[in-house]
This record gives sequence, C-alpha cells and structure tokens, in this order.
Amino acid sequence: MNILITGADGQLGFEVIRRLKLEDESLNITATDVNSLDICNIEEVEKALKGIDVVINCAAFTNVDLCESEIEAAYKINCDGVKNLADVCNKENAVLIHISTDYVFDGNKTTPYTEEDKVNPVTVYGKSKLAGEREAEKCRKHFILRTSWLYGENGKNFVKTMISLSKTKEFLKVVDDQTGTPTSAFDLAKVIYLFINCNDYGIYHCTGNGQAVSWYEFTKEIFRIKGIATPVYPCSSEEFNAKAPRPHYSVLENRKLQNIGKDIMRDWKIALNEFLTERNEIL
Ligand SMILES: NC(=O)c1ccc[n+]([C@@H]2O[C@H](COP(=O)([O-])OP(=O)(O)OC[C@H]3O[C@@H](n4cnc5c(N)ncnc54)[C@H](OP(=O)(O)O)[C@@H]3O)[C@@H](O)[C@H]2O)c1
Repeated sequence: MNILITGADGQLGFEVIRRLKLEDESLNITATDVNSLDICNIEEVEKALKGIDVVINCAAFTNVDLCESEIEAAYKINCDGVKNLADVCNKENAVLIHISTDYVFDGNKTTPYTEEDKVNPVTVYGKSKLAGEREAEKCRKHFILRTSWLYGENGKNFVKTMISLSKTKEFLKVVDDQTGTPTSAFDLAKVIYLFINCNDYGIYHCTGNGQAVSWYEFTKEIFRIKGIATPVYPCSSEEFNAKAPRPHYSVLENRKLQNIGKDIMRDWKIALNEFLTERNEIL
C-alpha cells in the first residue's frame, strides 16, 4: 500500500511515520513537508499523489494567534490546500485522512462535544480548519479526525514549553479557565493507522481519554511526573491575554470511535507518563 504523508516534519507527521513503521513494515511511505510538497500548489499535489492509496494530511497552519493577523495564509493552507488534496484523491480514488481540531466549537457547552454537536468556531484558526473540513468531506473516501491539546516528540508543544520555562522562571502562571483533554500524537497516530484499512468514512473525535483538565492542572501533572518543584499558580484567560480567544470548554468525546470499536486512545495521564519517562532525553 502506498501512503503519502504531508506536513511530515511537524509534530503529528513525525509520530505518524514512527507509528506506521512500527505497525507494518510493508507499507510504502512517502514523507513530504512544505519544501518537497506544498499542498497549496495543485501541480505539485497532482504529481505527488500519482499511484498513492492513502493521503494523511498532517500539514496545517497551526499558530492560533498568528492566524488572527495572517488570515489569507491560514485559509490558504487550512482550507485551499485541503481542497487540492481532496480533489486529487477523488481523481486517484485515494483515501484522505485529514486532521482537524476542537477549536471548531465555541466552547459554550459544559459536557463533552460529540460529532453531532453544532460547530461554531470563534477564531480564524478554527474557522479556517472548519472550512478545511468542508473540503475534506468532498473526498469520496475521507476520514476527518478532530483532536485537541496535542503533544509529541518533534517540534514545539505545551509540555515541552512548560518544562523549559520551569528551568528559567521562579514561578509560572497558567490558565485555569480553559478545559480540554491532552492528546498524545503517538496514540492519535495509532488511530490513523487503524483507518488505513477501514471504510467507515466520516468525521471522528479522537482525543486522550480520562478526566478533562485545565492548562493549569495539565501543568501540575507534567511537573508531578517530572519532579519539578517550580511553583505553578492558576490565572484567567483574561490575565494571560492571548491574541486569539480560546474556547473555555473544548472537551471532545470519542463517541464514534467507540461505536466502531476503534477507541484505543489511552487515559491521557497514562500516555503522558510514558511520554515523560520513556522519552526523557528530549525533555
Ligand atoms: N498542536 C495541537 O495542539 C493541535 C490541536 C488540535 C488539532 N491539531 C491539528 O493537528 C494537525 C497536526 O498539527 P501539528 O501540531 O503536528 O502541527 P505542526 O507541528 O505545526 O506541523 C504542521 C506541518 O505542516 C507544515 N506545513 C505548513 N504549510 C504547509 C504547506 N503549505 N504544505 C505542506 N506542509 C505545510 C509545517 O511546516 P512549517 O513548520 O515549515 O510551517 C509543519 O511541518 C493539524 O491539522 C492541526 O490543525 C493540532
């Protein structure tokens, strides 16, 4: 089977390659990133997708705050690029596995969002990702996996940032009024692998299982596992004053994954513990 990964140098792309190689050595994997395949360039996409059976789109404009000022670029990558992939996948009769986000919701609920809930993004990032979902849905064979609070070995993420800040700051203040569920990119990559040989196409929520937390509580757990003594104090989103507003509650329920017997996502605390103890050298 011929598999093409876009955005392979990013956080998720890296874990997808690692996971696919572990699961099935016979897969023929082509890893591309913006330098070798710009998903916004239709000619490049047409050329790269010849003979490909499955496209895993890990490419995206993921800087939520920067999206607020770089609106055109956000839509170009998160929507138009996805359209290119969906169009060419249809021509090649290929499967498109696309990744989306909890930020397609406004965060006004107080119980976990299911795939049936109404979307209403409040940021440019969320809106551009939702527009991308609409394009991905036009691919006959599509999977859209909405995930949240992703961390992995490669690239920048919240876990690494907090550990790094603990080394230079006397204390940390972390937002305590946004609730979500951390997700191991390595676990998400396993679900992506399971979808390679599956035809239950559609939109799925795919996040870590277990008790939802705030960023503050997430930080406390990271520091507990790592034995970091730097004090952490809760603060409000208002006090943190990020450029883009974040949903206050963006917990996703993996309901459809459960229904098809593919919810292998671990409790986020177990996955985090493994990440922080077994891949210690990178942190
Ligand atoms: N990170 C999170 O917490 C989170 C949460 C929910 C959902 N998601 C979704 O999960 C997916 C993976 O996110 P991630 O954290 O792995 O993101 P990431 O680390 O930012 O990786 C994205 C990759 O895409 C590349 N890229 C950008 N523009 C491209 C283009 N035109 N063509 C090809 N590649 C391009 C980036 O290259 P450059 O770095 O050179 O730009 C980067 O290597 C995304 O769809 C994201 O929206 C992420």
